[in-house]
Amino acid sequence: MVTNKTRPHDEYRRQFFAKILAIRPQSVLDLGCGDGKLIGQLCDAGINACGVDPNAELIGQLEERKLCGKIAAAENLPFEQGSFDIVVSEFTVHHFTNRPKAFEEALRVAKRGILFMDIWYDRDISSQRLAKRFDDWRKKLDQRAGDIHWPVLNSADFTEIISAIEPSTNIQFNTSLILHELEHNYVKTSAEDQIRRTPLTPHDQLALDEILDALNDSGMSDDGVIFVSACSDY
Ligand SMILES: C[S@@+](CC[C@H](N)C(=O)[O-])C[C@H]1O[C@@H](n2cnc3c(N)ncnc32)[C@H](O)[C@@H]1O
Repeated sequence: MVTNKTRPHDEYRRQFFAKILAIRPQSVLDLGCGDGKLIGQLCDAGINACGVDPNAELIGQLEERKLCGKIAAAENLPFEQGSFDIVVSEFTVHHFTNRPKAFEEALRVAKRGILFMDIWYDRDISSQRLAKRFDDWRKKLDQRAGDIHWPVLNSADFTEIISAIEPSTNIQFNTSLILHELEHNYVKTSAEDQIRRTPLTPHDQLALDEILDALNDSGMSDDGVIFVSACSDY
């Protein structure tokens, strides 16, 4: 059984943190900072870090830990132009309500540039293509339940959004994939959790059955990530 301990996301977080440190920023804004994991680490590294998140409870937790956080959405940042060296975001782009607006805001408040990490699937690998299908299936149900949970972006999608805002920006991509096969039971349990939250239409059930059938042929592997930077000097 795949557990949280064996999933690759902590390693991706480590890689993202190393990329931020390599830029040597003096100040960082984290969009969708959640419980402030990254902000705490950045502050420990001597960097002036602050986060925004629309979830007031999470920002309250940050304040209790004497960390800087503001209740705000990425689409409407309560900061002046160029307020932070860099603006970062981990595992949150697929939650932004309006991604072009959120990117425009990030580029506005960043002095040097932005660096985002989000979930990504390698479409050249069959077990990853199936993971993407399953991810899209779950997000469709979440959206029907009223959540903002978009399909993940690939490099071409990021380029289209960013170059429409700042055509001359230097955009770079890296991806990381720790190819970790997901057990059949794990996928089935995740689907059952989803079904408990959102009832299925016959069409959803059929799509799920097809995904579970395909699991026996191609297998399904866990998420990869894409790192996207758009910057003036790193
Ligand atoms: C998957 S969590 C990631 C949290 C944190 N970055 C982490 O890696 O642990 C997504 C976060 O995005 C926040 N969020 C949702 N919509 C947002 C928006 N429009 N702007 C900024 N953050 C948003 C949620 O409240 C949640 O804390």
